Amino acid sequence: MAPLLWFLLLLRVAALPEDAATLTRRDFPDGFIFGAGTSAYQVEGAAAEDGRKPSIWDTFTHQVMMTGYSADKSTGDVAADQYHHYKDDVKLMHDLGLDAYRFSISWPRLIPDGRGEINLKGLEYYNNLIDELTRHGIQPHVTIYHFDLPQSLQDEYNGLLSPRFIDDYTMYADTCFKSFGDRVKHWVTINEPNVETLGGFDSGTWPPRRCSHPFGTNCTGGNSTTEPYIAAHHLLLAHASAVSLYRDKYQATQKGHIGITLLTGWYAPATNASQDAVAATRMNDFHIGWFMHPLVYGDYPPVMKIRVGARLPNVTVEQSKKLSGSFDFIGLNHYAVFPTLADETAFNLKQRDYFADGGVANPTKYILEGQNEYAPWALGELLEHVKLKYGNPAIMIHENGYGDAPKTPGKIEYDDDNRSKILQNYLEVLYLSIRNGSNVQGYFVWSFVDVFEFLFGNRMRFGLCGVDMSTAGRKRYVRNSARWYSGFLNGGELRS
Ligand code: NOJ
Repeated sequence: MAPLLWFLLLLRVAALPEDAATLTRRDFPDGFIFGAGTSAYQVEGAAAEDGRKPSIWDTFTHQVMMTGYSADKSTGDVAADQYHHYKDDVKLMHDLGLDAYRFSISWPRLIPDGRGEINLKGLEYYNNLIDELTRHGIQPHVTIYHFDLPQSLQDEYNGLLSPRFIDDYTMYADTCFKSFGDRVKHWVTINEPNVETLGGFDSGTWPPRRCSHPFGTNCTGGNSTTEPYIAAHHLLLAHASAVSLYRDKYQATQKGHIGITLLTGWYAPATNASQDAVAATRMNDFHIGWFMHPLVYGDYPPVMKIRVGARLPNVTVEQSKKLSGSFDFIGLNHYAVFPTLADETAFNLKQRDYFADGGVANPTKYILEGQNEYAPWALGELLEHVKLKYGNPAIMIHENGYGDAPKTPGKIEYDDDNRSKILQNYLEVLYLSIRNGSNVQGYFVWSFVDVFEFLFGNRMRFGLCGVDMSTAGRKRYVRNSARWYSGFLNGGELRS
């Protein structure tokens, strides 16, 4: 899109105040939460320690990534080794001035077989981590499920493809509420169900490597254009089931909040041709609406019903009641804008119904190189869209960040001013969106320390703090972006 058009789009959201570059955290609403996040498989390590059993990601990294599928053949076996370094990490969070830490519980660490026996060592680890955080005044924001399905449930009944997943997930969530809910006041049921569904059951690039389209050369099964919708349906129902359990059994006494977190890139017209604008709207309605529509209105959006037809699961009256309003907040993970063209033939994307008659102008660049098109104004567009279309729900920006992959793998680099600059621009847009009425209540940088990045391994780095992957102790180092964020959190101006 022409730069002028981008600028006009931004003006539509709100006029830029002259002081935008001198924001301080006091310009955000009282009680606004600033934090940073990670997830279990991506940072914990200790993959075979203290009773933890494999998740589908352990299997995948060992069977596929280690054999050369990923850039660096790494796995999450050790990652940042937070399992052994959580105390140092919490101290670092405290020193930086984070209000909150978003992390996930590893299902196969807490309940190694997916259901049944609780692993006491796992329970102890999360109790210790949560206690350490609260002792340092840092709120734990806990994701119950972040892609790492116990392998045993995959083997037993095909994981997400079976409705049995819903019951096992609900029992696991119950264990989390019961064990940690006295101290955890912010729960995320499921992280990015949309990504797991497309990666695992459409492109087949993710475990369990089932694919529904002709590009899926690494797939082990599938080839069904229905499976992505079934998996997503079960994830939605599992979410709704955990929320109703929490509300019935725990919320009155524990007084916490519960929601779900979605990946929400923003589809914007690639040119100013009107058909591209229409295609971009359809894409947003399809991709954001796939989950937001059922969560708010209790059914799938019209664009999906038209495109997917009978392959889209039917939402029963009972399911619809359980789904609609099943959140106290919606978590949005936002990284990228996808320039969208109506001409899907240009990208050989025909027949992929989730593209909803549109094509993304640079899918290979985004997907293969991991290079996002950073365009902070798109966050403003996204927030405006969610506000208007879905009744202005409470929002947590659960992930926003910048990933890079140094030419020399593992190189220690303190200077990441690029990251600070990008994050600063996002925060300016966020400020404007809040002024414009979006009900955003928190913002989390992804990630606190370098994580094992799904598919890209250790090579890709998102951390405010770096991790020296060449040392056995996985030594942390504080990048400039962490210092920049800390300065802002401690009252300084938002300047990189
Ligand atoms: C979203 C995922 O939730 C997280 O696990 C991943 O590392 C980041 N995006 C970056 O790709």
